[in-house]
Parts: sequence; C-alpha cells; structure tokens
Amino acid sequence: MNPILDAFWYILPAYFANSSPVVLGGGTPIDMGKKWRDGRRIFGDGKTWRGFFGGLAVGTSIGVVQHLILPSYYGSLRIAVEVAFLLSLGTLIGDLIGSFIKRRLNLPRGYPAVGLDQWGFLISALCFAYPVRTIPTGEVLFLLVVTPIIHWLANVFAYKMKWKSVPW
Ligand code: CTP
Ligand code: MG
Repeated sequence: MNPILDAFWYILPAYFANSSPVVLGGGTPIDMGKKWRDGRRIFGDGKTWRGFFGGLAVGTSIGVVQHLILPSYYGSLRIAVEVAFLLSLGTLIGDLIGSFIKRRLNLPRGYPAVGLDQWGFLISALCFAYPVRTIPTGEVLFLLVVTPIIHWLANVFAYKMKWKSVPW
C-alpha cells in the first residue's frame, strides 16, 4: 500500500475513538466530580464514561469494518480487533492524561492546549498498539505532521454542526 494511505488506514481507529465522544459523550464524568489535592477537578466534565466506552466501541468497530473492506491488511479478524482496540484504548487514555495535565495547569475544560490536544492521543495510541502492530518511522512522522491539521479541521466541522460550542 502507498505509505500515506497505509499511515491513514493504520490510524483510522484512533481518529474515530478520539472524535466520536464529541457526539456520544455526556452524563457522568469519569472523575465523578471529584477534585485532586490542588482543589481542581481530576479530569473535568469533558471526560465522561459514555464518551470513553462509546469511543472504545466505535474505534474497535472501525477495525472490524476495515477487515471486511480489506481482509489482507490485518490478515485475521482477531488481529483487526486487537489492533483497533489497542489504538482506541490508547487514544482515550492519552486523552484522559491530557485533561489531567490541563487541569493541573489550571486550564478550564475545553481550553485548547496546543500540542497536548493533537499529539497526546496520537502518541499514546501508537504506544498501545506498538506490541501488536506498528508502522515505519517515516509514516509516524507523517502522522505527527498531519494529525494537528486534521484535528483542527474536524473540530471546525464539529463546531459548524453545533456538536461543540467552540471551534477547537
Ligand atoms: N468527551 C466525553 N468523554 C470523553 C472524551 C470526550 O464525553 N472521554 C466529549 C465531551 O463532551 C467533550 C467533547 O467530547 O467536551 C470534546 O472532547 P475534548 O476536546 O477531548 O474535551 P474538552 O471538552 O476539550 O475538555 P478538556 O479541556 O478536558 O480537553
Ligand atoms: Mg478540547
């Protein structure tokens, strides 16, 4: 496969896991409203159980769809589910770590943290999936460059669709 297509095909479950909580999220926050010892929220209201498990389910399902479209890519349904699950779990945990850091820096929920918002989930996803499947370093570098642009475009789109109150 063309390296650019290969990089996008590989990271697709992570992109879906990161974006679907915007639509699926809401309800009980993961930190249950609890505060850290600095008096500020652990993660904040932007990280919910519904968003977490919704993103995990959607991201993992993308792997199954990818396997149906292109069976030769993963080679087996088991590997497809494993890789997509790990990429999604890595994405959502990376996103949580990002919010944890943002709250410690006293940044309010939804406040943009350039770098953390775009690379945190990506790097975490790549690390989680690494033991099962990786992509060449060049493709990782390509994703590091294009993901912030795609992240920004996706957020502007979500804002225009009125799914989000701010375009970042
Ligand atoms: N979301 C969710 N659960 C998650 C992740 C995201 O419900 N685990 C939803 C929330 O409605 C959130 C929206 O998706 O507001 C956008 O996600 P994100 O930009 O990651 O959260 P922010 O609201 O910007 O909060 P933070 O400052 O903590 O990043
Ligand atoms: Mg945000």
